[in-house]
Amino acid sequence: MLHPGYPGICAAIEQRGWAVEAAFLPPASIAALRIEARRRDAAGEFHVAGVGRGAARVERSEIRGDRILWLDEHVHCAAEAPLWRALAALRAALNEALFLGLDSFEGHYALYPPGAFYRRHRDRFRDDDARVISCVLYLNEDWSVEDGGALRMHLPEGAHDIMPTGGTLACFITERLEHEVLPSARERLAVSGWFRRRT
Ligand code: OGA
Ligand code: MN
Repeated sequence: MLHPGYPGICAAIEQRGWAVEAAFLPPASIAALRIEARRRDAAGEFHVAGVGRGAARVERSEIRGDRILWLDEHVHCAAEAPLWRALAALRAALNEALFLGLDSFEGHYALYPPGAFYRRHRDRFRDDDARVISCVLYLNEDWSVEDGGALRMHLPEGAHDIMPTGGTLACFITERLEHEVLPSARERLAVSGWFRRRT
């Protein structure tokens, strides 16, 4: 039998619904993604993130203060190739281990300027349950506790914080977990996205 990759992630998702992997991509790949994100932000390609979608989408800085740029799997640059390869491998591993029927990934760069946050929420839209697994890959150099900006997961046993250190991947079962981004004292960069099932 073929052993699925990412056994730690698959086991943790199965047992408790969330997982953290410290070095999902090597430092050089993370640096390339960080440079790419900054370059495209400087070129004005990011836009203010909304809450809700379609006609119901609104911009509410008291709920979330990041700006985002959607990734395109079919038009990606060299810096994004290792990310798409790793995500494809993780999707296959999750499907093999947990029979989740994950079929695609949608995601975006997210840049939180100093002071920005994202209040407690779930990642599902009211009219769309295609998102199954949420993933956040952090792109930040030398993060420390004083920088704030932790991902706070609201677990049944209490709050659990994850620092947005470059290379760390946090993932969780989308429908299960409420979470928030605590105010960040520094610019905070991540790729945030979702494995989807076919609907
Ligand atoms: C999101 C989100 C968490 C993080 O983009 O929906 O909750 O740590 N991100 O950036
Ligand atoms: Mn979220």
